Amino acid sequence: MDYPSNRNRTVTRAGLILGIESSCDETAAAVVERGARTLSSVVASQIATHARFGGVVPELASREHLRAILPAVRAALAEAAVGFDDLDAIAVTSGPGLAGALLVGITYAKALAFARNLPVIAVNHLEGHIHAVLLHEHEAEESSPDAQSLALVVSGGHTHLYLAEPAHGAWYYKLIGRTLDDAAGEAYDKVAKLLGLGYPGGPWIDAMARFGNPKAVPFAFAQIKAKAHLHGKAPRTKAAKTAPIADLDPHFLFSFSGIKTAVLRHVELNGMRAGVDERIAKVLDGARPPKTREEALALAPQLVLDMIASFQHAVVGDLMKKTFAASEALDATRILVTGGVAANRELRERFTAEAQRRGLRVSFPTLALSTDNAAMIAAAAWPRFMAGEFAATALTADPSLALGV
Ligand code: KG4
Ligand code: ZN
Repeated sequence: MDYPSNRNRTVTRAGLILGIESSCDETAAAVVERGARTLSSVVASQIATHARFGGVVPELASREHLRAILPAVRAALAEAAVGFDDLDAIAVTSGPGLAGALLVGITYAKALAFARNLPVIAVNHLEGHIHAVLLHEHEAEESSPDAQSLALVVSGGHTHLYLAEPAHGAWYYKLIGRTLDDAAGEAYDKVAKLLGLGYPGGPWIDAMARFGNPKAVPFAFAQIKAKAHLHGKAPRTKAAKTAPIADLDPHFLFSFSGIKTAVLRHVELNGMRAGVDERIAKVLDGARPPKTREEALALAPQLVLDMIASFQHAVVGDLMKKTFAASEALDATRILVTGGVAANRELRERFTAEAQRRGLRVSFPTLALSTDNAAMIAAAAWPRFMAGEFAATALTADPSLALGV
């Protein structure tokens, strides 16, 4: 037996979709109207659970999702002032992500669907991130007609470039580029861990980088060459089920594992390590980034701020170089940048300035919609709901689910 199909459903109601997201370390639920208006967006973060390990521990993530999912859904409904009976569908992230974590959201969504006679829509987490930008544009009423866009999804688990094409009310995606190893957010998290900063590292580095000299350390990214040995091989990343790398233009491939080693080498060569950790720990006492320039400058050595600024400058520069090269090659006049790293201040400023210089349009989600949330999942589900693309009861987690072709 399948969930109710759209054959006997008409959208005469409000078009309310409950989104559920549990692919990594946030348990999120949201209610979104017609893919364009967020009535509520609740995110229960597990940061405190994983922080002391400096990264996400899968078993702990599943346990925390189990604890948080029901309160998150209840809070999302209460905040939206709607009940289960007002919902038209349930959208849930089916991949990519941690298998056990995904399963909590999927199992809950399926049970609720049975109980309330609602259809389930399976959403790819990466498509969700792309729709976070579109949702924000709808809400800000600065939405241009849906147009071909180049989307950079840059987060803790992903660094992907897609060409997104709208057609007949749906979106189609083509993979243009991706990382061969670590995601950009992973590099932020690893460098932060190395320096004894908090987890996740992105917001800490973002806050401290603005006080350093970005030109102090010449961290560099080499151009990735098409290598024969890569042919036919899947990349060594969490979301590996994609087209072979050999099919992608090497100009649009990323690699972020080397910069972490370069930072480590710089730290060791400059004898920064022990003393720095202790002084930075003081800055970060209370697990918050320095509030003022004075505080940061007083407590963190300039050498470290310079290195942090140089690291960020190099990462943002590499993301820009490849994204704008792809937009030029593909004639894309609109760029969407999304995912946790899209919350970064320097990234937003430099992408905006470069887009302006080239006469392109660049859009980001709000800061809250940049990192994982369920509103983006409910928004991405709307075109599927209209097309009647509902999941079968056999729906299960797909940890390496690919997006597009
Ligand atoms: O999208 P997200 O919440 O989860 C994934 O799908 O991975 O992204 C989390 C990642 C983490 O690596 C975090 O360090 C990074 O996004 N991040 C940032 C910033 N805020 C979060 N990176 C740079 N600057 C930020 N302001
Ligand atoms: Zn994400």
